[in-house]
Amino acid sequence: MSKVLTISGQRGGSGKSVTALNLAVSLGLYEKRVLLVDCDPQGCVSEWSGANATGYPFDLASVLTGKATTIEAISKTEFTCLDILPAGFNLFQVALKLSRLVANEKILRLLMEDIRNDYDFIILDSPPSYGYLSIAALTAADWLLVAVPPRDQWVEDFHSLLKSIQYIRQTHDTRLKIAGLLFNRRQSLEEIQEGLTDQHLAGTRNLIYDTIIPRDEAVDQAINKKIPLVLNDIKSPAADAYLQAAREVILAFT
Ligand SMILES: Nc1ncnc2c1ncn2[C@@H]1O[C@H](COP(=O)(O)OP(=O)(O)OP(=O)(O)O)[C@@H](O)[C@H]1O
Ligand SMILES: [Mg+2]
Repeated sequence: MSKVLTISGQRGGSGKSVTALNLAVSLGLYEKRVLLVDCDPQGCVSEWSGANATGYPFDLASVLTGKATTIEAISKTEFTCLDILPAGFNLFQVALKLSRLVANEKILRLLMEDIRNDYDFIILDSPPSYGYLSIAALTAADWLLVAVPPRDQWVEDFHSLLKSIQYIRQTHDTRLKIAGLLFNRRQSLEEIQEGLTDQHLAGTRNLIYDTIIPRDEAVDQAINKKIPLVLNDIKSPAADAYLQAAREVILAFT
């Protein structure tokens, strides 16, 4: 049975999509079977993985509207280690329509049941704001990996996120758990803890991944080339960090 992880965070531009793509590819490089599900109408991971360039017959919107099965909508990417269920802007309209129906965010979880035995990991990239798609992605997942942006108020953000998770667990009857907090564009754990009291950190320290993703211009270079960073420049500091983070994720599940 695959481990289903949603990459989420409370802020836009947290590094969710960069993390979803590069973690997915890194897990693939460690010979895990990985599916990346794009739950964001911005379609960033679809574009950055090259899926948009070649075009794809179906996408997540097709699955949510019954035009294709989940299996039919999965595309191979040109990278052997990665399959993708892509998304594009049409997902926005579909989500808007679906959000008017009562309590149906569970549909994504149900639609993924058919493929849960085909992959070791299913990674979902969430959209920036809380709405139908992010709740659907959280409901579909068993685990939440939080991409934490370089903000001093990250503890407050995390506590609000915990409240949202609590709410989703109760209203959608899920067992969503926190896999960990992955800090993005930071140098060290000391920098992350600066200015925080022990009381602030209580309960979160043990959730923080040892790996920290550094600020690295190689990230944008890879985005511009539409090639995942860990494949475009495996020796770059951020690629190295994503490979380490993937090892931590694998170890946590073994
Ligand atoms: N480690 C990094 N080093 C340098 N720049 C980074 C790094 N991670 C992310 N970025 C920059 O931040 C931008 C936003 O990242 P990303 O798209 O992953 O965030 P997001 O949380 O998915 O955004 P959204 O909320 O819009 O979905 C990237 O386009 C890139 O320019
Ligand atoms: Mg994104």
